[in-house]
Amino acid sequence: MPRIPDHLTGPGPSNPFPGIKVLERRLGREIPHRLGSNEGLDMPHRALRERFGDAMVEHVYCYGDAEALGVRQWLAALYGVPLEATLVDAGADSLIALALRMVATPGCTVVSAGGTYPTFGYFAQGQGCRLIERPYREAPGLLAPDLEALLASAHEHAARLVYVANPDNPSGHLHGDDEIRRLRAELPEDCWLLLDEAYHDFRDDARSAYGREVLPGVIRLRTLSKAHGLAGLRIGYAIAEPETLAMLMKVRIHYAVSTLTQAAAETVLDHHAEVEAHIRDVKQRRERLARHFRDLGAEVLPSATNFIAIRLPSAELAGRLNQQLLEAGRLIARPAHPDLGHVLRISAVEDALAPGRLTILEREIARLRS
Ligand SMILES: Cc1ncc(COP(=O)(O)O)c(C=O)c1O
Repeated sequence: MPRIPDHLTGPGPSNPFPGIKVLERRLGREIPHRLGSNEGLDMPHRALRERFGDAMVEHVYCYGDAEALGVRQWLAALYGVPLEATLVDAGADSLIALALRMVATPGCTVVSAGGTYPTFGYFAQGQGCRLIERPYREAPGLLAPDLEALLASAHEHAARLVYVANPDNPSGHLHGDDEIRRLRAELPEDCWLLLDEAYHDFRDDARSAYGREVLPGVIRLRTLSKAHGLAGLRIGYAIAEPETLAMLMKVRIHYAVSTLTQAAAETVLDHHAEVEAHIRDVKQRRERLARHFRDLGAEVLPSATNFIAIRLPSAELAGRLNQQLLEAGRLIARPAHPDLGHVLRISAVEDALAPGRLTILEREIARLRS
């Protein structure tokens, strides 16, 4: 097992407030009278009821289930991940922070691709880690985190953790399962692999056996922000070995996922056909968007996500177009990292396909081709 800092390897710290749901499960019976948790149960909530209805208000009074059992049961039932290998938190971002909080000690080294999902580096640096970034692999039709380079840096700098987004943001690149397995196998034994699978649901093989596997030494992260459309409610989950999750639980903010969010997630998961239809629609839109820009002559990179990435000849051009689009009220994404400044990322939403919406970009691409 990769290294866990000494202060977590003993019996503590233990959560002082596991909450009534966890306590009820431990006791094996319901506790009907909540007289000790200082929650504001008598608040009439007239304003909230008026705006959001009585059903919503039911979910606002009480601290939630710190173990999010209901959500995890749905995840296990739908996606086949073992219940005991799941942990729910307030989105993949929170899970990145949580993994760092468990693994990192000040000054320790973590490694990622330079230009990948930047929240990882932001959190790592905020926690006093030394961040080593390695350039992407670039070739015609290819822009991908360079796993060989990440591996080499992990060995060279005795890294405590390597971060890989798969599929990747912003490139959209998907590494094959065997590549990820090999990366894990060849990393130093005491180094964690943080595998950010925020876009996993958009993989064509999302429901494969690999998708539900618990990989030793790996913390897999997923989110309900994308395919499940719940970004505003903040919920995601980790898949890892139960011993790893026990360590994460030691440093987790126990009520980070609200009761309302858990109820909403359970409702969406209970109506999974809607999620599946949404995923199908997103992929179709992604392909339409990709075809549209390819037909104009753009280099659209292969994407296993809910967005497309376009590689432009220069960062200067990408920056100018991004700025012009923004001034015209169109917010697309351009990585802030200098290594990927020549990339523009567009979400596969219907609005991106509306005639005239991205004319500024289309004109420039057509001009480059002529
Ligand atoms: C690679 C990656 N990880 C994590 C996240 C954040 O997900 P969440 O909304 O669950 O925090 C995103 C969101 O864009 C992402 O692209």
